[in-house]
Amino acid sequence: MTAFEASAPGKIILFGEHAVVYGQPAIAVPLPAVRATAVVKPGTMTGSLVIVAANLARTLVIRHEPDRNEHALAVAVRKFLALTGQSIPSLQVTLHSTIPVASGLGSGAAVTTAVLRALSLATQHPLTSETLNELVYEVERLHHGTPSGIDNTVVVFEKPVYFVRGKPIETFSVGQPVHLVVADTGVSSATHLAVGDVRKLHTAEPERIGAVTDAIGEIVREARAAFADGDASGLGELARRNQVHLQSLTVSSPELEHLIAVAEEHGAFGAKLSGGGRGGNMIAFVPPDLVSGVCGALQANGAARVIHTTIS
Ligand code: PMV
Repeated sequence: MTAFEASAPGKIILFGEHAVVYGQPAIAVPLPAVRATAVVKPGTMTGSLVIVAANLARTLVIRHEPDRNEHALAVAVRKFLALTGQSIPSLQVTLHSTIPVASGLGSGAAVTTAVLRALSLATQHPLTSETLNELVYEVERLHHGTPSGIDNTVVVFEKPVYFVRGKPIETFSVGQPVHLVVADTGVSSATHLAVGDVRKLHTAEPERIGAVTDAIGEIVREARAAFADGDASGLGELARRNQVHLQSLTVSSPELEHLIAVAEEHGAFGAKLSGGGRGGNMIAFVPPDLVSGVCGALQANGAARVIHTTIS
């Protein structure tokens, strides 16, 4: 048997995080600059599937009998094997990922996607993207409780999405390339905690928080139109408005606010946090001629990693 390899990109939410959990639309794009890659080879332990997560210095051994408190990745593999009617194959999966964990870039969804795709190739049990998407969503639920499904959708289909929970996938058009700078606070943050706190706020103050999520939904609809027009400055303005609402949902942080201010002071049209918040990444819509200046300023002001990407 030769080696089988598959990979999946990171993702970044541009508009609508948190409100998307309550039925509002959100916009997200793949971030191909960071990826998870899985390589499957014959294993050395009969009846066991071994996953070596190279950069996490972690090894999972999946045997016939499930362990108590199994790792989500092991759960994903068992679901795939059950779905395709297989027993545990003697294989070794080596996983490499350049997607930072717990920072809102879809690391969990990408790792699961890469592993299941590589296993489906190696075991010759084809998986459609639709089925894979459902499997990855089930695993996301173990991490996040009530995820909207946006992460797995962008990562599995690897295309920009205008996403509404429970609705068929829609993409959106981009009239002119839009430059985006993504900067990591270096603070890891568990999305399910932020989502849980927003849920508590929503239960305590349904009218006020409902108005905030409605306002975010309106921003997302305007952003879709601004993308169609290739209006980067309009998108920046919408990012600023979206960020104010995210602050009232209590999901920003001093580190995010600092990087957002740095980007805007150096000429970004506008910036906001991305994903669950409280840490993780911020994004800035930047005029093309100011991209290198904004990237340099973010690096000089404490960003743990800066990525420039173009949405087209
Ligand atoms: O932190 P991330 O990038 O996994 O994004 C979470 C996005 C939320 O809207 C906050 C939650 C969700 O399930 O959509």
